[in-house]
Amino acid sequence: MVESPFLSDPVISIKGLRKSYGETEAVRGIDLEVNRGEVFAFLGPNGAGKTTTVEILEGYRKRSGGEVTVLGEDPERAGREWRERIGIVLQSGRLDPYLTVRESLDLYAGYFRNPRPTEDVIGLIGLEGKADERASRLSGGQQRRLDVGMALIGDPELLFLDEPTTGFDPSARRQAWDVIAGLRDLGKTVFLTTHYMDEAQRLADRVTIIAAGEIVARGTPEDLGERASGETTIRYRSNGREVVLRTQSPVQTLHELTAKALAQGEALEGLEVTRPSLEDVYLELTASTEPAE
Ligand SMILES: Nc1ncnc2c1ncn2[C@@H]1O[C@H](COP(=O)(O)OP(=O)(O)O)[C@@H](O)[C@H]1O
Ligand SMILES: [Mg+2]
Repeated sequence: MVESPFLSDPVISIKGLRKSYGETEAVRGIDLEVNRGEVFAFLGPNGAGKTTTVEILEGYRKRSGGEVTVLGEDPERAGREWRERIGIVLQSGRLDPYLTVRESLDLYAGYFRNPRPTEDVIGLIGLEGKADERASRLSGGQQRRLDVGMALIGDPELLFLDEPTTGFDPSARRQAWDVIAGLRDLGKTVFLTTHYMDEAQRLADRVTIIAAGEIVARGTPEDLGERASGETTIRYRSNGREVVLRTQSPVQTLHELTAKALAQGEALEGLEVTRPSLEDVYLELTASTEPAE
């Protein structure tokens, strides 16, 4: 099969990437491609090798082996022009607590030749009401959004977000998710690492799961869900009692169930069909690799 060059336009291409820290093999020969304009989730438990990989892609770490191309260049050799095309949100922020949101962004904009207007960025991260607040007075979630703003100020094509919502409460996570979803709408390519499967499921076009330095699964969130060995679950209430059916052939089972219900005039109250989720696959694939803590 001949693939159209327009369908895949890799912004990131990795072949046989390896990284060792002394005796520790953190990344053990991984391959992956990220296409332009997609939100790509690199999902895996703590210690899987996510940050190591991201830092190699950003040009902050040297690899032990393999080939890496990011925006057409090898990150180990790329220069300033290349660096201005990428935006980075580190696992721990770099905010000056005494500067306001607007001052922080203005200061950082000075490092770029073609920055995105500060007010524009403030809108993208949803901090309009906090523009004159010092960073130290923002909530954790607002600080993280400002981190994303710092990465956006240079108007990069490609953003790296390393565990953007770790430690957040549910409302801060949802706000951060909105910001990340907005990046896709802007046409940015986003490389997101996370150890939360719901985050990957919610945001990503494609997911690659890494465990102990090796890729264990990849696909769209839906594809990965289908790969789970678990069965589809059908629930409904009958005479006030909850009925739960598990089946490998949901279409057949639903057909039989609804045909019977129609014939008997039964309502199948609260009918619900749940397919195996990415979470099921993730837990299955990474169960043995979570470090004992
Ligand atoms: N600078 C370092 N020196 C030695 N070992 C490291 C270093 N950074 C990471 N590691 C080890 O490499 C493995 C992968 O770590 P990391 O890439 O941070 O994983 P993740 O981001 O998925 O949690 C872990 O076993 C970690 O302890
Ligand atoms: Mg990490």
